[in-house]
Amino acid sequence: MIDLTRSQFMRRFALGLGLSLMVAACGGGDPGTSDAGTPADAGGVIKVATEPAFPPFESQGPDGELEGFDIDLMMAIGETAGLEVQFESLPFDGIIPALQAGTVDAAISGMTITEERAQTVDFSSPYFKAGLAIAVQEGTDDINGFEDLENKKIAVQIGTTGASEAAKIPGAEISTFDSAPLALQELVNGNVDAVINDAPVTLFAISSDNITGLKVVGELLTEEFYGIALPKGSANLAAINDALAAMIADGSYAEIYQKWFGAEPPTLPESAF
Ligand code: ARG
Repeated sequence: MIDLTRSQFMRRFALGLGLSLMVAACGGGDPGTSDAGTPADAGGVIKVATEPAFPPFESQGPDGELEGFDIDLMMAIGETAGLEVQFESLPFDGIIPALQAGTVDAAISGMTITEERAQTVDFSSPYFKAGLAIAVQEGTDDINGFEDLENKKIAVQIGTTGASEAAKIPGAEISTFDSAPLALQELVNGNVDAVINDAPVTLFAISSDNITGLKVVGELLTEEFYGIALPKGSANLAAINDALAAMIADGSYAEIYQKWFGAEPPTLPESAF
C-alpha cells in the first residue's frame, strides 16, 4: 500500500518534472565564505528547526515523532559530521528569524535556496531538486497554467516561494495558511481556485489518501533547490557540506532518496544559482 502510494507519487512527480524541464540559467556568484562564528565542537549539539507539516520531507508520525526525507538526511549528516541533531518545530515563517536571532543553529525544512534568503542566512549545497506546481480541483478545466490564474483565488503557505510566486499574479486574491496541507484543504473545500506549492509535496498529498479530488496542472512554475539554512557565518556550514558531499559520494544519500522517493536521485548542482 505504501509502496504503491510512493511509486504512484514518483510517476507523477517524474512526469511533472519531465514536462517542465527548463534549462537552468546559470548566473555567476560564488557563495561567499565567512570566518565568523566559532567552530562546533566535535560531538557538539546542533539545534535544527523544521516546520513538520510538509510530507514527504518532514511530518509527524502517529506518536508525534518526526519523519521524512529531510529528517533522515539531517540525522545522517549529523552522524557523519559528528554533530548531535536536536530538532525543534517552528512555523515556517519563523525559521529565518530564529536563525538570525541565533535561537537555532540550522534549519532543514524543504527550504528553497533563494538569493533573497541568502542575504540573511547561509545555505548548504543543494540537497534536493524541486519546483512549484499549480493544483486545482479535478473537475477544473479553465486553469491550465500560470497565465490562467489572473483574478483567481489562490491559497499558499505563508512565507514560501509559492506565496512569492502567487504575489506576481495580477488580480489574484491570495489566502495564506500556516501549512501546505491547510492550503490544499482549502482547495478541496472549494474556497479557492488553486494552490501554488512545492510539486513533490502536492503530488505526495494527492497520491496519499489524505487529500482527494485534486490534480496538478501545467508545467512546473519554477526549478528550485532545497538547502540547509544556517546563521550567516556559521562554523557548521563546512562540516555540513562535507558530510553531504561524502554521503552523495558513498551512496548513503541515494539510499535515503530511494527510501522516500523510490528512485535514483538526480545529479545536484554545486550551487543553486
Ligand atoms: N520550498 C518552499 C520554500 O522554501 C516551501 C517550503 C515549506 N516547508 C515547510 N516545511 N513547510 O519557500
